[in-house]
Formats: sequence, structure tokens, C-alpha cells
Amino acid sequence: MKKINKVVIPIAGYGSRMFPATLGIVKAMLPLVDKPVILYLLEEAIKADIKEVIIVMSKSQESVKDYLTLKDEKTIEKFKDKKEVKELKDLLAKIKLSFVIQTSQKGLGDAIACCEEACQGEDFGVILGDNPILCKEDIPFGIGQLKEEYEKNPGYYIGVKEVELSETKRYGIVSGKDYHNTTFLLDGMVEKPQDNPPSNCAALGRYILGSSVFKYLKEITYGVGGEIQITDAIRIAIEKEKVYGTKLVGTCHDTGNRTGFVMANIDYSSVRNDVWNEIKEFIKNNL
Ligand code: G1P
Repeated sequence: MKKINKVVIPIAGYGSRMFPATLGIVKAMLPLVDKPVILYLLEEAIKADIKEVIIVMSKSQESVKDYLTLKDEKTIEKFKDKKEVKELKDLLAKIKLSFVIQTSQKGLGDAIACCEEACQGEDFGVILGDNPILCKEDIPFGIGQLKEEYEKNPGYYIGVKEVELSETKRYGIVSGKDYHNTTFLLDGMVEKPQDNPPSNCAALGRYILGSSVFKYLKEITYGVGGEIQITDAIRIAIEKEKVYGTKLVGTCHDTGNRTGFVMANIDYSSVRNDVWNEIKEFIKNNL
């Protein structure tokens, strides 16, 4: 059986929709309650039994690597008995991390192209660095959901969800005849259609890509927004191979914009017994 062992998490973007915060903090390090987004993404990968996560970062984001490799040994040692420190160490012990530098931010397609060597010819998953998924049931979600589909029937898989038609211009939009099913074969994909979207099924930050994607990435050039778009490489894959859409379970958040970030914080607090009662009361009494 073909398996997915590696996941790429691209985090190198400027995060300009979250300025000024992201002029000082890497977007993937913004906290949801008290944990940086990147840790939720690693938890998702671990739950999906992924063996290795490849983080694509820019040269100025060494702080993320320092954090995830527990470089500040003195502080870690000082607080080694604290529950949060133990949990962080336990989490990081469960997964192999590697780091790849994207030298200039030319878009998501370019970030993925930087991982050709690290992926070692294997098909792999992608989790976008600002799209955590909160699933309140104990079922495979996010990359775990796509991995399960892939392992039954290998191919490319794009995690999608239906969005309001007015929202389609913000996303990669897929089309396929059977798009009312949970998993369906794609016949097209467009990046951020400004009019006439082919459907209301949007790519929401989870992909399984075949190793052939690196070849397709070399065939494309700058696309929407002047960036190398993974959507354009996936469109070539749709012509040549089997590419499926799978409807994602759980709530897909976008912490890369202001409203999405605050809403994600509220949603993630709602599953935390230690903070939710107080926050809920505050919202009820003040807003
Ligand atoms: C990227 C992808 C887009 C996808 C979106 C999900 O866009 O290019 O296809 O729908 O992520 O968040 P970005 O939001 O980085 O512009």
C-alpha cells in the first residue's frame, strides 16, 4: 500500500494581512489561546501518523526553528517541571522536523518547489501555515482525512469546503461533476476567480500532491497576484492524472487575516475548560 509519510508546511509568506503583528512575529507563531498555530498543525500531522514535517521558511524566520528545536535550553531546563513545557517537549519528540529555506517569497507553488529534494521522490501532504482546522470529534481530520483517502486510492487530493459564492474570489476553486459527494474527481481548478467561479468548493489549506508536481511546477510561470501558484501546477495534474477533491470535516480557520484570527481564538478557547467559562461570560455580559 502506498503511504504518505511527509508533510510540507510553508510559513515563509510576509503575513501582510496581519500587519503590524507580523512585522515582528512570524504568522505561524501567532497564538490561539496560548499555543502558536504551528503547534496545532504539528498535532494534526502527528494524529495522522505522519513521520516527517518539512517546514519551509524564509531566512529571517530562524526564530521558528529555534523554538521548534528547543534552542533556549536554559529556559527549558529552568521550567522543565511545568506542564506546558513537558507537553511541548513531548509533542516535538513525536515527529521528525526538517527546515528548508525559501530564498525569496514567490508564492505557494515556489515554496513547495523548494522541497523537491526533501520529499525524496515520495508523494506528500501539504498543510498551509495559517489554516488550522478545529475538529471537535475524534475522527481523522485535515491531512489525516486526505491521507486516509489516498491510502485507499492513490492520487492527488485537495481538501475543500463549500463557501459562500461571494467568498470564492479569495480561494482556489475546484470543479468536478460529482461535487455533491464527499470525494469527487476534479475536472478543473482556478485560483481566486474574480467572476464566474466554476463552483463554490474552495481549497482550504490541505493537499496531497504526487511527486510529479515538481515537474509541473517547472512548467508554469507567475500567475494570479504575480505569484507562482500551486493551483496552476495542480491544473496540469488534472489533465494528466487523477486529482480528487475531498470535503474537509471540522472548522477551517484562516489565521492570516484579522477576523479569521480572532474567530479562531474564540473557537479554540471554546474547547479549553481552563479559559472558556470566563470568556463566555465576558462575551455574554459585554458584547
Ligand atoms: C492560498 C492558495 C488558495 C487557497 C488558500 C487557502 O491562497 O493559493 O488556492 O484557497 O491558500 O487559504 P492565499 O490565502 O495564500 O492567498
